[in-house]
Amino acid sequence: MSQKVAIFRSEHFNAAHRLHNPAMSDEENRTVFGKCNSPNYHGHNYELIVRVVGAVDPSTGYVIDTKYLSELIHELVIERFDHKNLNLDTEEFKTLIPTIENISVVIYNLLRARIKEQLDLKITVYETERNYAEYPA
Ligand code: NI
Repeated sequence: MSQKVAIFRSEHFNAAHRLHNPAMSDEENRTVFGKCNSPNYHGHNYELIVRVVGAVDPSTGYVIDTKYLSELIHELVIERFDHKNLNLDTEEFKTLIPTIENISVVIYNLLRARIKEQLDLKITVYETERNYAEYPA
């Protein structure tokens, strides 16, 4: 079989953040980012969905071993961001605003380097049930 199949692994992490652009005034920040600009940070329960698409390997029946994928997500993403203040505790968001747009791109880049080139990768990050981002678009 060489049909392409999509495999999904979902994980979650809890993290605090503040959306703030130091190049803008406090008032502009409040207008643009609303409650997410709150100076003392706040938390979200982020839901992460990793989608891998590729041909089924006839020797295993797998596109990718979901156990391997889960371990990879834990090693590269969960250990890095879970129960962290994204702005203060992580290198990735010291200067990058931790929106779901940027979080999805950062997670994609972390995982992309460790997933075989011939497999397509897509990241979805939910900040709330109603707000989520997908990368690549
Ligand atoms: Ni927020």
